[in-house]
Amino acid sequence: MQKSILITGCSSGIGLSAANTLQKKGYRVFATARKEEDVQKLKEAGFESYLLNVNDSLSIKNTVAAILEKTDGTLDALFNNAGFGQTGAIEDLTRDVIREQFETNVFGPIELTTLVLPIMRRQGYGRIIQNSSILGIVAMPYYGAYNASKFALEGFSNTLRQELRGTQIFVSIISPGPIKTQFRENALAVYKKTISQHPSVHQEKYENLEHYFSSAREKHPPMTVTPDAVVKQLIHALESPKPKAHYYTGIPANIFAWMRRLLPDSALDWVFSKISSSEV
Ligand SMILES: NC(=O)c1ccc[n+]([C@@H]2O[C@H](COP(=O)([O-])OP(=O)(O)OC[C@H]3O[C@@H](n4cnc5c(N)ncnc54)[C@H](OP(=O)(O)O)[C@@H]3O)[C@@H](O)[C@H]2O)c1
Repeated sequence: MQKSILITGCSSGIGLSAANTLQKKGYRVFATARKEEDVQKLKEAGFESYLLNVNDSLSIKNTVAAILEKTDGTLDALFNNAGFGQTGAIEDLTRDVIREQFETNVFGPIELTTLVLPIMRRQGYGRIIQNSSILGIVAMPYYGAYNASKFALEGFSNTLRQELRGTQIFVSIISPGPIKTQFRENALAVYKKTISQHPSVHQEKYENLEHYFSSAREKHPPMTVTPDAVVKQLIHALESPKPKAHYYTGIPANIFAWMRRLLPDSALDWVFSKISSSEV
């Protein structure tokens, strides 16, 4: 039986890589994107593609309904991948800026999850995989909104996993470390639209951050890996009879996850202020 999967954020990066690999492996991939031109490109590349903006409830509902029509009301898996990084010191984050970050990284994925759960309960099985971040486990200066959104996604997903105990519906969280994608370029664009528009006591740090993000295409953080590393773990979460609750992608993510367990907050703060000083 061909397995079906709905993936969000397939215009680039991890989502696109996951869609390509899973399609080649024989999955029926519903590759979604929020822009019409990306949906067209995905269709030309041979995908069943739909518009899906995770910030928009109607878009979520319409797309899930359209997919279910194609699959006779079934869906094997959901990969909540779409997301973006809002940078900026906490004291410069407005309520609207924080809300926008949560709309995409938390409210959208959770709404989509609750929409597919009745389908999975009815069919008696399913896999839900959340693309979080190592910044959903450890905090870093100037990433407060992003940190908070991914911590929230992890909180929802950890609770859901316990609520689904005893069923054949499994929830896995993937926490990647730095991955080579459009993420930093997109974060820079968001930063320019939001934070850089206003005077700040953090001005000097922001100039460094801007420079760091602008050179992201050529200079990735140390030990950055390609999206296939995430996709490999996604496949384990989809196919293993015992999928893990948590996957950490790349050496930095694995080290930070261990450090979170072993070190006191003061030591973690020191480590992350050192890492942050290479960016700002
Ligand atoms: N790259 C990393 O270092 C890294 C590390 C840890 C976690 N992650 C997580 O990995 C996920 C994928 O990011 P990526 O690294 O592949 O970066 P990316 O290349 O920037 O891809 C992000 C994807 O999310 C989509 N997206 C953003 N807002 C959306 C919305 N409202 N509705 C639907 N789609 C939306 C983007 O679409 P548009 O093209 O239309 O903007 C794009 O397809 C994110 O959740 C990110 O937090 C990335």
